[in-house]
Amino acid sequence: MKIVVVDNYDEMSKVAAEELASVINNKPEAVLGLATGGTPVGMYKELIKMYNEKKLDFSKVTSVNLDEYVGLSGDHDQSYRYFMNTNIFNHVNIRKDHTFVPNGLAEDMKEECSNYDKRIEELGGIDAQILGIGNNGHIGFNEPSDELSLGTNLTDLQESTIEANARYFASKEEVPTQALTMGLGAIMKAKKIIILASGEAKAEIIDKVINGKITTQIPATMLHMHSNVILIVDKEAAKLAGNI
Ligand code: F6R
Repeated sequence: MKIVVVDNYDEMSKVAAEELASVINNKPEAVLGLATGGTPVGMYKELIKMYNEKKLDFSKVTSVNLDEYVGLSGDHDQSYRYFMNTNIFNHVNIRKDHTFVPNGLAEDMKEECSNYDKRIEELGGIDAQILGIGNNGHIGFNEPSDELSLGTNLTDLQESTIEANARYFASKEEVPTQALTMGLGAIMKAKKIIILASGEAKAEIIDKVINGKITTQIPATMLHMHSNVILIVDKEAAKLAGNI
């Protein structure tokens, strides 16, 4: 795992955007695995800026998102489809029909999960996967557990995840308790993984990921077994991890 420590959130966002831009510039038809949450918002802003400056062309790019809440439609303002549309897709020249987010309203969740995996396979896998990290070490919504799923799966969100995400909802009770998430299989098969972390709230988990053992109880530690991972972390998030 290559670790890059930067000064702050803005720098993390810029470095991440540059990484992703170089993937797209080297392969205009790249398949990007994308994440939501607070962490990548700045990176998306940087990508939009590059697009407006004509340094980036999304016309041939395809995207597959990590996850979606169960029970929210794509036009619900807290759905991850809505997040992606408003934070990036509406502002660049990506074809909307080349953007994929699991359907949190699917009637048959099992079928939705296997179709999502089939789609990723048909696309030839993911060229670059963006990840944030949960305070509990989750990646996507693959929560700490004795076992991790290979394929896209329906998952119960842990209390700590619901609490962390309640900041976006009117109350904790409104946070969906389940989500569909890409599994470890598609994530670990991505050709490149870019994982981002910013702020003091992530310091403990970043220390455990960098210095701890590989365990399914901290899903992000699995990334040590991938040969092309870059962790972009700001000073606050890196402050418990020692000299890195
Ligand atoms: C989002 C996702 C999650 C988040 C994680 C961190 O698509 O898959 O794993 O990356 O929960 O969220 P933030 O960035 O809000 O701290």
